[in-house]
Amino acid sequence: MKLVQVQNKGRSLLRVDLSLRDGSRPTWLKGSGEQERELATLDERIELLRGQVNEPGVSEALRSLKKAKLDDLLQRRAELANAPITWPTTGNAAAFRFVAIETTLPQDPTVAALEQAYDRDVGQFNLAWAREHGKACEPPTAERPGFVGTAVCGSCHPDALTVWQGTRHPHAFEDLEAKGKQYHLDCIGCHVSGWQQPGGVCRIDQTEQRREVGCESCHGPGSAHVALPTRATIRRGSKEVCVGCHDHENSTHFEYESYLAKIRGPGHGAPK
Ligand code: HEC
Ligand code: HEC
Ligand code: HEC
Ligand code: HEC
Repeated sequence: MKLVQVQNKGRSLLRVDLSLRDGSRPTWLKGSGEQERELATLDERIELLRGQVNEPGVSEALRSLKKAKLDDLLQRRAELANAPITWPTTGNAAAFRFVAIETTLPQDPTVAALEQAYDRDVGQFNLAWAREHGKACEPPTAERPGFVGTAVCGSCHPDALTVWQGTRHPHAFEDLEAKGKQYHLDCIGCHVSGWQQPGGVCRIDQTEQRREVGCESCHGPGSAHVALPTRATIRRGSKEVCVGCHDHENSTHFEYESYLAKIRGPGHGAPK
């Protein structure tokens, strides 16, 4: 019998508490109505604040105030969801609660160390496999242009290059390294340029030239545009291209207008 369904891609955990005294059938304890109502109210306020934190045109000062408030509410929600249960004094009982997994939850150092060791092993296996069996990307063709790299684009579009350098995209790979996940196949695709595409990255042991979310991650492979630099040979970037990486799982708070505002600047979608 199916008891629970994993929801929201593992972003919440089902916690089951049991109180067993004898061989009788346990009764399910229902959460108190008051607690449920309070949780629902908190959830509403959390959603509202999340939207406000990402609104375009909000000053950094106000944003960080709202962010602090949001963290505070998340903390309160976690505490409330984990509040001690009042058990009946006789018989067996069970209770279940969904606990949202937020970055504000404390991490157990032993588990963290295990996780790190596991990640390192997986990475080393993947690396060894790539060294032995990895295949280079297919060469570009007339129908399928290839990646040429950010430096080439920047040589003709210096203003766009400067704007790009001020965003998080050049740091995508180093942030992955900081987590020890740069050899993980479930991570690398969105943290380099041109994963599995001509001129891009096809083996995790050879990422050197494409360690970033470069121009071509949004504008598409540029070899044809470099050969014939006109507006017709390159695409302009759109919401569809963002959500290829900024999906719900990896960019929970993605909102096109406010995110676009952060990657625009003089000579890159805004007047010089
Ligand atoms: C040899 C110089 C040169 C190189 C290298 C070059 N471009 Fe261009 N790019 C141009 C020219 C010229 C235009 C057309 C400008 C115009 O007509 O306003 C252009 C236009 C563009 C546009 C505007 C398209 C539009 O619809 O408005 C984008 C985006 C662009 N380039 C991106 C890139 C990217 C990404 C690269 C690297 C793969 C790159 N460019 C490399 C010269 C270059
Ligand atoms: C489908 C694309 C995609 C995949 C796969 C992906 N990421 Fe990301 N990652 C993103 C995007 C997009 C952001 C930026 C999120 C934002 O700021 O809204 C990001 C941000 C990050 C950041 C910096 C921000 C932070 O949260 O600290 C780290 C670190 C990171 N990812 C690690 C990983 C790891 C580890 C994996 C594999 C388990 C992974 N990513 C897989 C797209 C992806
Ligand atoms: C190839 C994958 C990819 C594509 C396509 C992509 N991004 Fe990103 N983006 C990332 C990753 C990865 C990060 C996190 C980088 C880090 O901090 O390590 C990120 C971070 C960002 C951030 C910084 C978030 C913050 O809160 O500071 C903004 C803003 C952003 N992206 C906007 C966009 C927009 C707008 C588009 C589409 C026009 C786009 N991105 C397309 C992968 C991508
Ligand atoms: C995260 C995605 C993303 C990245 C990375 C990115 N761009 Fe863009 N770029 C866009 C979008 C979206 C637009 C259209 C902006 C608009 O219409 O407001 C744009 C516009 C442009 C334009 C037209 C400028 C204008 O004002 O009309 C050029 C040229 C360009 N990009 C070049 C580059 C170059 C060169 C790089 C790398 C140094 C780069 N872009 C990196 C998404 C990106």
